[in-house]
Amino acid sequence: MPTYYLRTFGCQMNEHDAERIRALLEAEGLEQRAEPDDADVLVYNTCTVRKSADERLAGHLGTAARLKREDPDRLVVVTGCLPQAEQAAFFERFPFVDVALGPQNLSHLPEALRAFHHAPQGYFADDPAMSGELPSRRQRRYQAWLQVMSGCTNFCSYCIVPFVRGPERSRAPRAIIDEARRLAADGVREITLLGQNVNAYGRDLTSGAPVGAIDEAAARRDPAARRDPAARRDPAARRDPAANGPTFASLLHALDAVDGIERIRFTTSHPKDLSRDLIDALAELPGVCEHVHLPAQSGSDRILAAMRRGYTRERYLQLVANLRQRVPSVAITTDLIVGFPGETGDDFAETLSLVGEADFDGAFTFVYSPRPGTAAAALPGHLSDEVKRERVQRLIAATQQTARRRRQAMVGRRYEVLVEGPSRHGETLRGRTRQNVTVNFSGAARPGELVDVLIEQATSTTLKGRR
Ligand code: SAH
Ligand code: SF4
Ligand code: F3S
Repeated sequence: MPTYYLRTFGCQMNEHDAERIRALLEAEGLEQRAEPDDADVLVYNTCTVRKSADERLAGHLGTAARLKREDPDRLVVVTGCLPQAEQAAFFERFPFVDVALGPQNLSHLPEALRAFHHAPQGYFADDPAMSGELPSRRQRRYQAWLQVMSGCTNFCSYCIVPFVRGPERSRAPRAIIDEARRLAADGVREITLLGQNVNAYGRDLTSGAPVGAIDEAAARRDPAARRDPAARRDPAARRDPAANGPTFASLLHALDAVDGIERIRFTTSHPKDLSRDLIDALAELPGVCEHVHLPAQSGSDRILAAMRRGYTRERYLQLVANLRQRVPSVAITTDLIVGFPGETGDDFAETLSLVGEADFDGAFTFVYSPRPGTAAAALPGHLSDEVKRERVQRLIAATQQTARRRRQAMVGRRYEVLVEGPSRHGETLRGRTRQNVTVNFSGAARPGELVDVLIEQATSTTLKGRR
């Protein structure tokens, strides 16, 4: 039987795409292997959001090149955002690659493998057939990703995602609800809804829906970013019971009613589109978990404007205050970028102070990395690596401090935990609270069970407890 090796990088959307790649390859009769040396087909599902992502991939492609030299019949396939960003130039840089597919062309993988005749093949078209409709083979039994949207049309000035993932498109509510039902019937208890900006869900399905000024400007600059008229005419959207077409909040209401799904998570939330209805849904719907990943990116209004984020520091902090007031147990996590072009010491100080004021439960901190073709890459005022490194160290210290304090405040209380399996070292069990905090705990429980755990100890990232 032919075999494959699959390695994936990047965000959760890419991990979900990897589950689809598995399903497609296994439907072709290929069997997975843990090491590239043992496989006939090598697949690398790539990310290019920062330069560090490209560098991480380089070593893996080095291995692929060596294996291809040893056995030219081996197939090297690269999928995901890097080949989509580079297209034809990608094959010049990596001549040993046989097949390259952008993230909107995964459905062509089987035909690419069958049609392969020792000449490189690239698939990079903007294909409106959404990967959300492809079959997927889950890694986890009780938890599943469910893609509600693809693409992004926000064009934050630093970000390459809109260029590689195509325009923002929402799946029809009916397709999403049917998928949730199928997952529940298959034993899934927790779903994580995926989209680059889930708060904008449905906006492209309803004709005449308001579209942010930022998006329109971006669409004018880039015709590829214009919304897909076919999606707008989607009849399933018109059938939706919500009065003004589906919204993310109305979708959560419908999913909360699906029997068997006990927990609903979602990522990522964009602050500019976080609605009052969504906060109400978080407060009222029993299945919706008390966790919002709300990337702030910066605490400085000047930098936020240059990033084209569409909100101010004050508006961001107001959202945080509304969330904490309506949903007292909510965990708020964020993404922050240091060293955006032109960021002064004062701008950075505003990001540091935002961390304290928002009292984040956790944060991913990134050093700004210029991406070819993005607006920010052409801005003046790029900072040196030393300045960026020094700032990111201080930012990490600040975010760890708030995270530790928020975790400490959980000690002595009981939390509902979805059991995932044994802990990393195998002595205890591991699971996650509704706030998405990992807990290692003692006592008996089966994977997939929801149990009550008393929290006894905390670090900045994990909790320890007992049943
Ligand atoms: N759609 C999501 C995030 C996608 S990328 C959102 O809007 O929140 C994940 C994170 O990578 C971003 O939130 C941002 O913090 C970071 N990022 C994106 N482009 C970057 C760049 N050029 N340099 C450094 N960090 C970047
Ligand atoms: Fe990138 Fe902004 Fe879209 Fe997120 S919302 S994917 S940061 S352009
Ligand atoms: Fe990376 Fe593409 Fe996700 S660039 S972060 S894998 S959308």
